[in-house]
Amino acid sequence: MSESKPEPKSEPRKLFIKTYGCQMNVYDSERMAEALEGYDQVQTPDEADMILLNTCHIREKAAEKVYSELGRFKGLKADKPDLKIGVAGCVAQAEGEEIMRRQPMVDLVVGPQSYHRLPELEAKARSGEKALDTDMPEEDKFEHLKSRPKAQRGPTAFLTVQEGCDKFCAFCVVPYTRGAEVSRPVDRVLAEARDLVERGVREITLLGQNVNAYHGAGEGGEQSLAQLIWQLDKIDGLERIRFTTSHPNDMSDDLIEAHGTCDKLMPYLHLPVQSGSDRILKRMNRAHTAESYLRLIERIRAARPDILISGDFIVGFPEESDQDHADTLALIEEVNYGQAFSFKYSTRPGTPAAERELVDADVADARLQELQALITRQQRTIQDSMVGRELDVLFEKPGRFEGQMVGKSGYLHAVHVDDCTAKRGEIARVRIVSSGPNSLSGALV
Ligand code: SAH
Ligand code: SF4
Ligand code: F3S
Repeated sequence: MSESKPEPKSEPRKLFIKTYGCQMNVYDSERMAEALEGYDQVQTPDEADMILLNTCHIREKAAEKVYSELGRFKGLKADKPDLKIGVAGCVAQAEGEEIMRRQPMVDLVVGPQSYHRLPELEAKARSGEKALDTDMPEEDKFEHLKSRPKAQRGPTAFLTVQEGCDKFCAFCVVPYTRGAEVSRPVDRVLAEARDLVERGVREITLLGQNVNAYHGAGEGGEQSLAQLIWQLDKIDGLERIRFTTSHPNDMSDDLIEAHGTCDKLMPYLHLPVQSGSDRILKRMNRAHTAESYLRLIERIRAARPDILISGDFIVGFPEESDQDHADTLALIEEVNYGQAFSFKYSTRPGTPAAERELVDADVADARLQELQALITRQQRTIQDSMVGRELDVLFEKPGRFEGQMVGKSGYLHAVHVDDCTAKRGEIARVRIVSSGPNSLSGALV
């Protein structure tokens, strides 16, 4: 644009984003920050001209947090009338205008499929109007999100390749908040991956609510997640590939095989099962059984014997009996998890399970504790078994002590190394010498 008189350069406005929920929200927050031109990100809400909450609707607590957080911003807005407050993410999608009714100081509400419209919405909010967009348009929002030129990145990054879900588990809001399942085209994913590598990224985690259902358009038709991984494997400078979250029913043969043959694919698989009782799995509409899950794990371990398996569990699903719970514990015993996330069932309005009779809260609490104790034991035993081994560690940041660096092993354990000569972004071999509550320690080989 050529203008005779250059506009006086205005100070960038300040943007504070708070992110809740899953890794996809982390990725989305980064992209929203990039898309909002004329803003610099800040670390506290007090300095901000715009506050954006990127929210999660998965459990009741997660959703309620948003309103209590908004309540806290009331004072800020009273002091600074120009401050704009926005709500993005899955609560925005699920509750839409209701948010502005409950918290009239909210200026902007934007659902996860409309982030490419954020600059327009921001302008509308700036002009004093309420801005709301919870459409689910067909276009690929990421293609319409502007990216600023080449800021250097840390060694690890998320890259969303698939979004949404068609599975409709009886407890889950994701199919409603993220919409139908869509995959991004292969060339777009590869271009973004190359760009990340140029900016310093060494490890990419491919994201999707059902990432292994990926079927992006590519050369010669749709490509599977495994085919995508093999193309990423060819990118020089990209050293590690991960993906999350997978559904057991989409764990295809080529993906299992890739775990055995692709060196860049890390030996870690997050494969939620939710319950070990067939009766409950059926009521959950999971479309797999405990047995089919166990056989799947067997096949994955045959391809990659040392793979670390991670899972998700819901305890206290409606009508869950002591026997159902015992079945879940038995499945956990058989799998031997290196990591797991477990949650007490939370009723989500609008989902099929919301109509059913709840398990007594104390019973559910006791089951959760029992399950978590078992998983902690397994996790700890697997982590402790790393002592004495030599592992490749990707160093991500300095540790708490002078000269110390922290990185991750292929199994995703945090590893601390004192007097570390390896730099951020380097992969170095480390002999593991001890295992603490949350991390390993070792020395460079
Ligand atoms: N797409 C992933 C999980 C998305 S949600 C999958 O299919 O596995 C992440 C986890 O939150 C789920 O795996 C489940 O364990 C938990 N979760 C989802 N809805 C829940 C609810 N209503 N109450 C408690 N936990 C829930
Ligand atoms: Fe939710 Fe089930 Fe879809 Fe996972 S597979 S996002 S738990 S509906
Ligand atoms: Fe939460 Fe939405 Fe992710 S509900 S877990 S932020 S997909």
